[in-house]
Amino acid sequence: MIFEQVAQGGCQSYLVGCAKTRMAALIDPEVRQIDRYKALIDAHGLSLRTVIDTHTHADHFSAAKELGRLYGAEVVTSAPYGTRHLKDGDTLEIGKLKLKAMATPGHTRDSMCLIFEDRVFTGDTLLIGGTGRTDLPTGDPDMLYDSLFNRLLKLDPKLLVYPAHDYKGRSCSTIGDEIANNPRLQKRERGEFVEMMRSLSLSMPEHLTEALRVNLSGAKSVAQLLNEAAATVPLYPMDDLKAGLGKPSDFVVIDVRERDAYEAAHIPGARHLPRGQLELRVNQAFPDPNVRIVAYCEVGKVSTLAAATLKEMGFPNVMGLDAGIKTWIERGYPTESGPARS
Ligand SMILES: [Fe+2]
Repeated sequence: MIFEQVAQGGCQSYLVGCAKTRMAALIDPEVRQIDRYKALIDAHGLSLRTVIDTHTHADHFSAAKELGRLYGAEVVTSAPYGTRHLKDGDTLEIGKLKLKAMATPGHTRDSMCLIFEDRVFTGDTLLIGGTGRTDLPTGDPDMLYDSLFNRLLKLDPKLLVYPAHDYKGRSCSTIGDEIANNPRLQKRERGEFVEMMRSLSLSMPEHLTEALRVNLSGAKSVAQLLNEAAATVPLYPMDDLKAGLGKPSDFVVIDVRERDAYEAAHIPGARHLPRGQLELRVNQAFPDPNVRIVAYCEVGKVSTLAAATLKEMGFPNVMGLDAGIKTWIERGYPTESGPARS
């Protein structure tokens, strides 16, 4: 068996490979670690066949859909884009390896644990010294009680526990150790356990709404959209733009912010083409598709999206300013105000 644990920022994901067939599975992959997974898969000479989310994550972005697309792998998730939906008792075969699914709702309704030889991947059902919270969408402390005390904790105490999160740099535990030492598991009576889970006042994960939307739909996060746009757009240095002010130039500067912001202060000579009207006004604004364009906005994000859109629309010579007008003003560079000239 080939086994790699990838820990980053409290998230734990796992690469499991069959030494005989070189087939592999990734459990709870996270989008920021895709390059690391690729490197591990290559280093071991593996073929990624299966990607698994133990549940719908609310606190980070799953890489399941993207890895499924990249490797043509089966995507095991309860989300609608999954190519396989696990049921309690199902077996996942990874070459000669077998992972057995155990439904453990509670942290979320779709939570699964995966039992594999001497270990169990517990997702967020059981953590080292903790349990998954039950106050996020579809969480239920009563269900978590049953999943823990009537299922998971009845497994062999020697089984190794590999959770989806650990915030203290620990790699694994055992069922027996958790039963003995995990503070949340000392409330063994249902009512006490439920009461304890209900009284935890935990702060909401930072990207809760976005993570749920992205993980349930398989669509892109804002960061992904911006990264993809940035990869297609060259940057023009702000200091060069400042140095060329008032001199003839072979490019057009466009301000893609809303009208109020443009009128209050803009870079001298900049034309106004707000991001929201870009597609509809671009033919009139730029009859020559080979025109060189430098786009800017407040901080550089909206202009990156605008420039990427222009590229897609057939303007190959579009760039983004390497910072927004906020930085321009902070540097004390000159601005103009007033309405756009038509
Ligand atoms: Fe979770």
